[in-house]
Amino acid sequence: MTFKSKIKTIEWTQNVSRMIDQRILPKEFKTVDIKTSEEMYYAIKDMIVRGAPAIGIAGAHGIVLAAMEIKTKDKQEFLKELKRKAEYIKSSRPTAVNLMWAADKQIELAESIQGDTNEITEALKQNAIKMENEDIEINKKIGDFGSEAVPKGASILTHCNAGALATVGYGTALGVIRSAFAKDPTIKVFADETRPRQQGARLTTWELTRDGIPTTLITDGMCSYFMSKGMIDMVVVGADRIAANGDTANKIGTYTVAIAAKYHKIPFYIAAPLSTIDISIKSGNDIPIEERSHDEVTHINGDWICAEDVNIINPGFDVTPNELISGIITEKGILRPCYKTSIQNAFNLK
Ligand code: MRU
Repeated sequence: MTFKSKIKTIEWTQNVSRMIDQRILPKEFKTVDIKTSEEMYYAIKDMIVRGAPAIGIAGAHGIVLAAMEIKTKDKQEFLKELKRKAEYIKSSRPTAVNLMWAADKQIELAESIQGDTNEITEALKQNAIKMENEDIEINKKIGDFGSEAVPKGASILTHCNAGALATVGYGTALGVIRSAFAKDPTIKVFADETRPRQQGARLTTWELTRDGIPTTLITDGMCSYFMSKGMIDMVVVGADRIAANGDTANKIGTYTVAIAAKYHKIPFYIAAPLSTIDISIKSGNDIPIEERSHDEVTHINGDWICAEDVNIINPGFDVTPNELISGIITEKGILRPCYKTSIQNAFNLK
């Protein structure tokens, strides 16, 4: 089955990083050309591009832009400046480890090149394009493995957007849904709206309805109700960082969905590439959680929605403990508890 939406969220083209502006979807579809490493820092921070694998690729592009900006031909000076700029780009958002992973891969490559600074820059460009293509391939593998876990005619709940828009294309959690739908067009999706930035309402429903996948939008507080009515058979969500024990950081509200799924005995899956697993972190307690602007909570569409002097707190992510997770769907297969062992094995298979 082919899908209508061959969405390419981000791509290196004509010496710029071209990305879909996700701040304005679904009202407007527009791409933005990012031309400097500083513009890339803000594109990630302000969420023109978002979603863990997509910001990984944005980081890889950012390093290419950084290399193109550095004027010195002295290799040691060049590498020193490149590493400084890499740290700056990596500081744009703290939770999704794919950003650090991709930027570090680019730096490792730059250090390994025997040629001059032009050759390093060219190698970084080629590697960024390779990473883009690999991202789509990995998502298709995740989709294939994950589709095996989807019951016939299932209603699948997802939270936030772990789709083509959160990756280069196809998606992780929505990749599972796309692959399952290709085999069984009777499946249906429930999409949580995902306050405060509405990635579920704005992005997930846009993507899935373009592909003709039946999708029902619900508000975040409704998931337990639909579970209690027997209307949800499975949950699949993405991840921003998975610790070595399987604890998983994902968009705020994911933990609530996982608790509700456990109570109602509904399988709860994470879909993510191995690059989202941070084996240097023992448990979810060590995952840095981004605190975002309070305006995201106090305003809807530019209008105040609360008392002006109320206290606000706005963590962008929460951590779902591993015991609530039925499986982690990766490009190497579905990892099952005990995650400490299955994650270790998956990395040895690499
Ligand atoms: O703040 P965002 O929109 O970047 O958060 C995105 C998510 O939490 C996604 O679910 C996660 O990155 C997985 S993307 C395949």
